[in-house]
Amino acid sequence: MTMRDTLRADFPVLRRQVDGMRVTYLDSAATSLKPQPVIDATTHYYTDVSANIHRGKHMLSEEASDAYEAARVRVAAFLGVRAADVVFTANTTHGLNIVAAGLDLRPDDLVLMSRDAHHSLQLPLRARARVEWLPVHADGTVDLDAYAGLLARRPALVAITHCSNVTGRYAPVVEMAALAREHGALTVVDAAQSVPHRRVLLPDLGADAIAFSGHKMLGPTGIGVLAIGQELAARMRPTALGGGVVDWVDVDRWVLRRAPHRYEAGTPHIAGAYGLRAAVDYLDALGMTEVADHDRWLAELLYAEAGKRDYLAVLEPGPGERSATLSAAVRGVDDLTELARALSDSYGVMCRSGHLCAQPLVDSIAGTRCCACPPISTTPPTTSTSRSTPSTSSTRSWRAPDVQPARPDPRRATTR
Ligand SMILES: Cc1ncc(COP(=O)(O)O)c(C=O)c1O
Repeated sequence: MTMRDTLRADFPVLRRQVDGMRVTYLDSAATSLKPQPVIDATTHYYTDVSANIHRGKHMLSEEASDAYEAARVRVAAFLGVRAADVVFTANTTHGLNIVAAGLDLRPDDLVLMSRDAHHSLQLPLRARARVEWLPVHADGTVDLDAYAGLLARRPALVAITHCSNVTGRYAPVVEMAALAREHGALTVVDAAQSVPHRRVLLPDLGADAIAFSGHKMLGPTGIGVLAIGQELAARMRPTALGGGVVDWVDVDRWVLRRAPHRYEAGTPHIAGAYGLRAAVDYLDALGMTEVADHDRWLAELLYAEAGKRDYLAVLEPGPGERSATLSAAVRGVDDLTELARALSDSYGVMCRSGHLCAQPLVDSIAGTRCCACPPISTTPPTTSTSRSTPSTSSTRSWRAPDVQPARPDPRRATTR
């Protein structure tokens, strides 16, 4: 039995068959499958413990509280940070929203954003601040010289996708974070696609915060992590209040707990913490170096094999570090829904089709809607209920025709 077969046996879903064909799962960028130890850890909480945390002194509550905090310590060791720096969130999106909301950004604050940003990174910041896309070379890699030029405009924050869910390309986060720091800007990194595949140590990255999801790294859905450096933590405030975030409340005032607890309002995903810890143990037992090597090998194979098939138009990330994520169009086929369904229902192959949640990047590579964007208009949307009509002006909008229009910002209109 090869290692691959042994690992396969750990994932019960892979025992399923579709029309006599065993399942081939190619959708790990959306969510990974869960190995038995993660399922067991989650089930153990519900079966044997089931109590709330940090709210009682009975045995079951203390057991759950200890396990929850032990999971935090385990995740902190995985990331090379202190347990106090690890906030348990619902997912990457939640973590990025905590940063965007907690920083009290003003509409005229400048945020620099990688063009491959997932909507989870883009939208919380676009809704609050003035976003400019990071300049990229023709092959899509970040133009570091032009980036340094933009930094001279004193952005408040640089938002970086560590690994793109569309092209699999890794951004040079270490260099970018160092440059940002030199210019007094904070950096937040969307690490949803990197933490599952590489050893990501926050101190080595030099970023101020990273966010990722448990469910993309073999863990349960509904739990994620926001790891925040102390400098950023000192500048943020919690925006969700409630049980769990205060040390003291009386009729006149309340006293917030310290991080990370001040960011974890309400009963958290306790079973998720049990499962996430098991996922980290599972990955560490495989060895993150081996996981990364396997990912690189798979990426080479994937791109080499796709390159041999001229009916595929592959979104090529160009040279440099990339993960085993590949996006492609099938030449001559506009809608891949039926193809994805046929692959699934007739061959047991599960792959992603449709909208990729990083639409500006897809558009710019594929030459659709807002391709070849100069810095895209990022006026925060209003709550207006009227519907926009497709833009006919030469300044193309990032918005799809059926979303709410942005309120024109007269100040910006005069400066652009
Ligand atoms: C790069 C990236 N960022 C953020 C997300 C959002 O993750 P979640 O839905 O778990 O919040 C994803 C999910 O696909 C992603 O690929």
